Amino acid sequence: MSQKPPLVEMRHISKHFGGIQALTDAELELYPGEVLGVLGHNGAGKSTLIKILAGAEKANEGAIFIDGHEAHIDDPNDARGLGIETIYQELALCGNLNAPANLYMGRELSKWGFLRKRAMKEEAEKALSRLNIRIKSLDVEVEAMSGGQRQAISISRAVHFDTKILIMDEPTAALGMEESRMVMELTVELKKQGIGIIWISHDIHEVYNFTDRITILHGGTNVVTAPTKDFTQDEIVSMIISGRPIEHSNKANSD
Ligand SMILES: Nc1ncnc2c1ncn2[C@@H]1O[C@H](COP(=O)(O)OP(=O)(O)OP(=O)(O)O)[C@@H](O)[C@H]1O
Ligand SMILES: [Mg+2]
Repeated sequence: MSQKPPLVEMRHISKHFGGIQALTDAELELYPGEVLGVLGHNGAGKSTLIKILAGAEKANEGAIFIDGHEAHIDDPNDARGLGIETIYQELALCGNLNAPANLYMGRELSKWGFLRKRAMKEEAEKALSRLNIRIKSLDVEVEAMSGGQRQAISISRAVHFDTKILIMDEPTAALGMEESRMVMELTVELKKQGIGIIWISHDIHEVYNFTDRITILHGGTNVVTAPTKDFTQDEIVSMIISGRPIEHSNKANSD
């Protein structure tokens, strides 16, 4: 994995909100086809870091490189233009629209001023089937769908538009076990397609089994970045709490 150049490099990122220092000299690297877990307790700076990558916040200091080139991400459109999509926990779907309309929200297909509904539905069917998502009827309003189905539509929306980098901020926090599993299965499909995924979660068990690498933040700075399995779950939890890296024997083996 490490032979490939990184999709994303965030270097020396600092961000304050008035007197609150949310991030100090924070770093993030993401490679194609991996799931990077971003961990830390409440207020550690996880969401702020990914919002800077997504163009929702602006860093006070630092630089972002996408595919090795410095990127200036001033707003979410800049991020999207670089192939970066974000799924926030509070899903950005419209409850009163159906799946195809949500998929194309803000980027509707039209011809001579008319919405191309049939084309959008056909494309939506393709997008969902590409990810093995089964939704009984595409005409159903999203409101009537489960959290997992909505999450699935968000993912397919992200994937449909040539996403290279997918950011998921606590994607499973509000989902049941079955739905969480579906979201994770979808994410595995995305990995296979070479998409790099940033996965923020408080569920240590999920993170441990699902991520390839982790970076732990504490008080807005990186504690450690390593392959997930270099540590035990207990060690990861202890680093999240203490903010101090653990020297571990596995680490010596993997270097
Ligand atoms: N818009 C804002 N205005 C002021 N302070 C903010 C703002 N956004 C974040 N902060 C502060 O920055 C710090 C980092 O917050 P952030 O949301 O990045 O943490 P987090 O790791 O995502 O936490 P959680 O696990 O609770 O989601 C916190 O002290 C938070 O209060
Ligand atoms: Mg957060």
